[in-house]
Amino acid sequence: MTDPCAFGVYIHWPFCLSKCPYCDFNSHVRHAAIDEARFVRAFSAEIAATAARAGGRTVSTIFFGGGTPSLMQPATVGAVLDAVARHWSIASDVEVTLEANPTSVEATRFRGYRAAGVNRVSLGVQAIDDAALKELGRLHTAREALDAVAVARASFERYSFDLIYARPGQTPADWAAELKRAIAEAGEHLSLYQLTIEQETPFFALHAAGKLVVPDDDTGRALYDTTQDVCAGAGLPAYEISNHARPGAECRHNLVYWRAHEYAGIGPGAHGRLDIAGERRATATEKRPEAWLMRVEGSGHGVVTDEALTPEQMADEFLLMGLRLAEGVAPERYAALAGRPLNPRRVAILREQGAVETTADGRLRVTLAGFPVLDAVVADLAA
Ligand SMILES: C[S@@+](CC[C@H](N)C(=O)[O-])C[C@H]1O[C@@H](n2cnc3c(N)ncnc32)[C@H](O)[C@@H]1O
Ligand code: SF4
Repeated sequence: MTDPCAFGVYIHWPFCLSKCPYCDFNSHVRHAAIDEARFVRAFSAEIAATAARAGGRTVSTIFFGGGTPSLMQPATVGAVLDAVARHWSIASDVEVTLEANPTSVEATRFRGYRAAGVNRVSLGVQAIDDAALKELGRLHTAREALDAVAVARASFERYSFDLIYARPGQTPADWAAELKRAIAEAGEHLSLYQLTIEQETPFFALHAAGKLVVPDDDTGRALYDTTQDVCAGAGLPAYEISNHARPGAECRHNLVYWRAHEYAGIGPGAHGRLDIAGERRATATEKRPEAWLMRVEGSGHGVVTDEALTPEQMADEFLLMGLRLAEGVAPERYAALAGRPLNPRRVAILREQGAVETTADGRLRVTLAGFPVLDAVVADLAA
């Protein structure tokens, strides 16, 4: 079921046309033109430096995330892919995903990405409702978003799009209708995120001031249940807490994270997990784009954190990521990482509560009833 040799490369493009008021990703707005040639040189240098430490891998997935990577010129994307291929072998069935924002989708640009080697796009549609898009601070309408989906469908064999639900005032009936409209436009994959109020965002301040009211816990739960029912009924079951796919069409890059495989993080604010000299190393680069550029130009890479994880940390991370998946985790892999098995008493209690179950092949997984309280389940098992 899992591919132990999976190796992913994540490339971060840190710029957006405007900052959405709910978003705390490492994304920045610049009014001057971005010097993409300079970024290509820096990405190439950081790829070379990472491959010098973690060579001999075969890349199975590459993901351009952001920010808004669809603001990159296709030639920039192609040059970064060439740099990856200069330093590592590339699997013949490599998955290459690029995140796109509907505001910056044009058919010619998408054809350019495809010619450069991208074979999957993930579009940030967010809502199919103009009032909701306005409230989310998006620069596109529902019509423009659906037109972008049509361009994606015509340009790529594999595409996905994101929606945000549990928005202010949203009822399960509204959401079911919107989700059905979305599914009619979807291909093999959808990402459906509950709106999270992130600290230090404009939404956080509005929420704290009582000016932005999100659905209460019971309504949030009902919205989550609606999501599962509508998607499963349409052949798009959840394979991860927020991700739905037709069986076999899962995003292989995200599976690399959730299955705790190895990945390189390239670009401003990118995280990596690399197995070097028998240790799992957690890496992170400088977040600020211009500071990252200067670091790479000065020392060949932008890494500011590079730590070996302890067995305890590796095991916790394995649970935290793996229990997000419908397939769950192999308890023996946990035991091998932690140096001790999961506490059988805690597992038994959670099983009695209906929050976890053991599959026929001995994997431990969170049930549909347990997913809304996933953080508590993980905390309990890791304690
Ligand atoms: C890094 S964004 C990149 C997508 C692209 N920049 C766009 O916005 O179209 C990835 C996704 O995270 C989701 N997201 C970001 N902030 C969120 C929040 N506070 N709550 C829920 N989902 C969020 C959105 O669905 C978004 O499409
Ligand atoms: S949601 Fe997407 S477009 Fe909006 S600020 Fe975040 S990364 Fe940029």
